[in-house]
Amino acid sequence: MAPKVTKICCIGAGYVGGPTCAVIAVKCPHIKVTIVDLNADRIAAWNSPDFAVPIYEPGLVDVVRKARGRNLFFSTDVDGAIEEADLIFVSVNTPTKKSGVGAGSAADLNYVELATRRIANVANSSKIVVEKSTVPCRTAESMRTILEANSKPNCRFDILSNPEFLAEGTAINDLFSPDRVLIGSLQTPEGKAASDALVEVYANWVPTKQILTVGLWSSELSKLAANAMLAQRISSINALSAICEATGANIDEVSHAIGYDSRVGPKFLKASVGFGGSCFQKDILNLVYLSESLHLPEVAAYWRQVVEMNEYQKRRFSKRVVDTLFNTITGKKIAVLGFAFKADTGDTRESAAITLIKDFQSERALVNIYDPQVAHSQIWADLQEASPQASLDSIKKQVTICGSALEACKDAEAVVIATEWKEFLDIDWEEAYKHMNKPAFVFDGRLLVDADKLRKIGFKVTTIGRA
Ligand SMILES: NC(=O)c1ccc[n+]([C@@H]2O[C@H](COP(=O)([O-])OP(=O)(O)OC[C@H]3O[C@@H](n4cnc5c(N)ncnc54)[C@H](O)[C@@H]3O)[C@@H](O)[C@H]2O)c1
Repeated sequence: MAPKVTKICCIGAGYVGGPTCAVIAVKCPHIKVTIVDLNADRIAAWNSPDFAVPIYEPGLVDVVRKARGRNLFFSTDVDGAIEEADLIFVSVNTPTKKSGVGAGSAADLNYVELATRRIANVANSSKIVVEKSTVPCRTAESMRTILEANSKPNCRFDILSNPEFLAEGTAINDLFSPDRVLIGSLQTPEGKAASDALVEVYANWVPTKQILTVGLWSSELSKLAANAMLAQRISSINALSAICEATGANIDEVSHAIGYDSRVGPKFLKASVGFGGSCFQKDILNLVYLSESLHLPEVAAYWRQVVEMNEYQKRRFSKRVVDTLFNTITGKKIAVLGFAFKADTGDTRESAAITLIKDFQSERALVNIYDPQVAHSQIWADLQEASPQASLDSIKKQVTICGSALEACKDAEAVVIATEWKEFLDIDWEEAYKHMNKPAFVFDGRLLVDADKLRKIGFKVTTIGRA
């Protein structure tokens, strides 16, 4: 019989752990959910009296408001939450390794391992341990070895894989109405019973036909594969955008035509300056590393090309800006609108804007940045990380963070749209034009604005995927 889940602990209060377990708390008022993190500032923000939660995500505050203090708790007491829970989500970060074996492509599993060891050391009763983090195929096996080697007598650990498919910017909708929930387990009676226990949690709001139960390794690999295929669609359409620019075809028309094929479908076919975010690149590189480790070099090369195409797209876009501005942007002011990797999030990890701005800096341009959500401190931290050899003072001589799009456009030669924030549609473009140097250029990296309307005002407009 499936064990009954009454207390959940989530290790990691980040973009995944926070929203996911807050939604579980709202949907399962009979379950006590405690989200823990070592980062005390993050936990303090989740607990802030005015709900200034550490992540910008539409609808998230309402969810936290409903459940916090009722059956949803945020805490730095990792051990206490582990001890009382019967099910533990491991939602810690798994970034790409920066040094050592597999640097640049393998996942850094240090945080997963530390969290696993903590569970083993603290647990005095049996637990279901759920991998929520995105991990390489067969990580559950390493977790099992660590847990079994360090556990106390009478404690058994069942390990499940339950990768998260939410997309930042639409996380709450995605969690309320997921396309599917995927649960992987060992196909043993105990493994299946643990899987049933987690199915029962999700069944409080997700139709059971959308809860897919599979083997552990299939579940782990499916997450990497799903992200790789989504990113591959973007790189495919971006590759076609380069052909459009050279031939006079229009990438929007091409996407529309392709997407009408019901086997392809219309979603995720929008050309852009390139994908960003903490997951796509990391997860594909993870798949590349896995393929190389399995002596499948052709498979590794195939997936690596998706990331290389993305890098090419970013480089191609910044070169187009320089070429169009008469082959030099030295001393010219460029307004970059948007710094987050996509709209409706404050997350900047791997944002295309960072690469573009770095390119503009190396061309010795002056850059004005405006983003409606990203904290200024985050922008400075990202720019500093992108140019470690430059001092922050020297970066600040070239870069200014502005309080509005219009302020960013003032005295600029060109506007670069790097993030598809809806509010950029409502910019008073006539006013922006008035205060820009002439000729005034707009480079639309997100196929966002009405190019014809801007041209009527006087702008010279360059759009991805159009000649
Ligand atoms: N961000 C997304 O959109 C997304 C979507 C699907 C899956 N994922 C995956 O989910 C995982 C988490 O991603 P994220 O974006 O939430 O990362 P994040 O960096 O926002 O959050 C991870 C949190 O874990 C905490 N942490 C690390 N080690 C800990 C430990 N031992 N004990 C307690 N807390 C610890 C960190 O302090 C951090 O706050 C990653 O594997 C990621 O690939 C992310």
